[in-house]
Amino acid sequence: MSNYHIKHLEEYFQVYRKSVREPENFWEEIAEEHFLWRKKWDKVLTWDFTKPEVKWFEGAQLNITENCLDRHLTTRGDKTAILFEPNNPEEPAEAISYRQLYERVNQMANILKAQGIQKGDRVCIYLPMIPELAISLLACARIGAIHSVVFAGFSSTALSTRINDSDCKLVLTSDGSYRGDKTIDLKGIVDEALESCPGVQTVLVTKRTGSDIQMKKGRDLWLQPLLNEASTFCEAESMGAEDPLFILYTSGSTGMPKGMVHTIAGYMVYTAYTFKNAFQYREPDVYWCTADIGWITGHSYIVYGPLANGATTLLFEGVPHYPDFGRFWNIIEKHKVNQFYTAPTAIRALAKQGTEVLEQYDLSSLKVLGSVGEPINEEAWHWYNDNVGKGKSPIIDSWWQTETGGIMITPIPYVTPTKPTYATLPFPGIQPVLMDETGEELKGNQVEGRLCIKFPWPSIARTIWGNHKRYKDTYFSTFKNMYFTGDGALRDEVGYYRITGRVDDVIIVSGHNLGTAPIEDAINEHPAVAESAIVGYPHDIKGNALYGYVILKDFGATRDRDNLRKEINQIITEQIGPIAKLDKIQFTQGLPKTRSGKIMRRILRKIACKETNDLGDTSTLLNPDVVQEIINEAL
Ligand code: WT7
Repeated sequence: MSNYHIKHLEEYFQVYRKSVREPENFWEEIAEEHFLWRKKWDKVLTWDFTKPEVKWFEGAQLNITENCLDRHLTTRGDKTAILFEPNNPEEPAEAISYRQLYERVNQMANILKAQGIQKGDRVCIYLPMIPELAISLLACARIGAIHSVVFAGFSSTALSTRINDSDCKLVLTSDGSYRGDKTIDLKGIVDEALESCPGVQTVLVTKRTGSDIQMKKGRDLWLQPLLNEASTFCEAESMGAEDPLFILYTSGSTGMPKGMVHTIAGYMVYTAYTFKNAFQYREPDVYWCTADIGWITGHSYIVYGPLANGATTLLFEGVPHYPDFGRFWNIIEKHKVNQFYTAPTAIRALAKQGTEVLEQYDLSSLKVLGSVGEPINEEAWHWYNDNVGKGKSPIIDSWWQTETGGIMITPIPYVTPTKPTYATLPFPGIQPVLMDETGEELKGNQVEGRLCIKFPWPSIARTIWGNHKRYKDTYFSTFKNMYFTGDGALRDEVGYYRITGRVDDVIIVSGHNLGTAPIEDAINEHPAVAESAIVGYPHDIKGNALYGYVILKDFGATRDRDNLRKEINQIITEQIGPIAKLDKIQFTQGLPKTRSGKIMRRILRKIACKETNDLGDTSTLLNPDVVQEIINEAL
């Protein structure tokens, strides 16, 4: 038997050593014993980080939905696959069994086929957190279509950019969505986006809110009547191991988001294996990840990882504060949740409420607590550990990225002793290294540098859709023969890793990965704005908040400042979404620039953080006087 399920620390080290010494044997054994293949591979791994090229299980044929659904039917047909908890607590929860999920996925797959969707076609999914969302991903995978989920909080401009970048033919959406006490006009956003998406032929609309919406003739179709007619069997397409499974966009250092491409077999093997171990999932545990399926966390650890393990995965439509701040605790009690995976920003918001609310609920079912998306500060870590876990549920602070597909560095609960704010040890198969600025590897312990990975793992993204050069430039050009994560990290005296934060132009706000460039581009669209620069500064709930420095054109200088601030945030909301709004906007005459014209963000960051005592070396600045001016007028 391969080491699929790690149970103690000794075993972890043993398994880890094997995964480094014989990576191909290691992954081959796991792939062989725990998954369903239509045809086995010819070669386990081909790789070259200079091209870069990575291929796992080449030559194999499979369908990921047969692994997530079909193979469970005999043993787990009646077991709950998805437990749906609606936004409104008065609305009953829905338990969807593996058999029902199988049938609903097959029906949806048949509808997509009937609309002309074929293997390799791109389908955009813009849906709220309702069962149809998970079903849509799987339906695409069933017929070999490539899904591109766009988080349903993104604006119409962000949506159309993503639809066009990957040439999606069809969009799946709903009439509206619920978010706490608000109803959002999702279909209206899609209509607006599609005005600039000539390639979209069909829009399939799920009824959720019953809102009065426009249906465009010849393009829009209601999903329910089609589902009622559709057959509950759809032959699964036989797919190549390296065929794309999905595209998922993440922010980058230019305005254009990066469509990260994940391929089928490696992604399946890695997300399933990490799910099993990182959460120590044992049947019949009820597992809950609070992320949205619109992010990688939801793809890997609400849908694919849990279902590949035959787990029960909870899908929550709502928000942590509706109808009150007890909602998460209420859901844990109601469904006897065993593993709970959330983000530091949510923990901080809930901690702010004190423990009174939480104490009204029975949280004794919890066995494992997870954190993901940004560094978890010490205070939040202890609050989570002491009050939610009552000191008996280990916290897994799991570090990973959209690009990595699955969890990379994390404690394994009940195996790895935890340490507040530390992601601790790499998963089997993951070989992290720390590099200094000159490109040298920092060996040994008690060092701090840039976090890279020196060997491929099965779920690494294979490319950026339509732009392999950008993929190479972004991840494989900073350090020779290494995947560069964009994060800084330190390794302590026992070899534990602590992620210290981004070292590039990405800012993580409430766990959302935001590039500075797209936000600056949006601000610069305002007719009165000449130039802008944004930086992050610490925020007690969001982790980071955004601080913008804006230079106005001459005619803008006489305008009302507060109105300008509102207008700028309005443009950001329209172009990207409300998550990218600025908390502070300072109007300034100039920005500190180097002689080559590069904005010195380091200085702007220090000013935003009110750390102006030590600004470091400013001698290379073209315009050093502007610094004092900015400090004097800082908010
Ligand atoms: C960036 C990736 C991983 C899924 C959600 C975010 C930051 C993520 C941690 C953690 C410190 C973390 C990193 C990373 N990050 N998890 N446990 N501790 N930082 O995916 O949007 O691609 O963002 O999130 O900076 O690079 P993403």
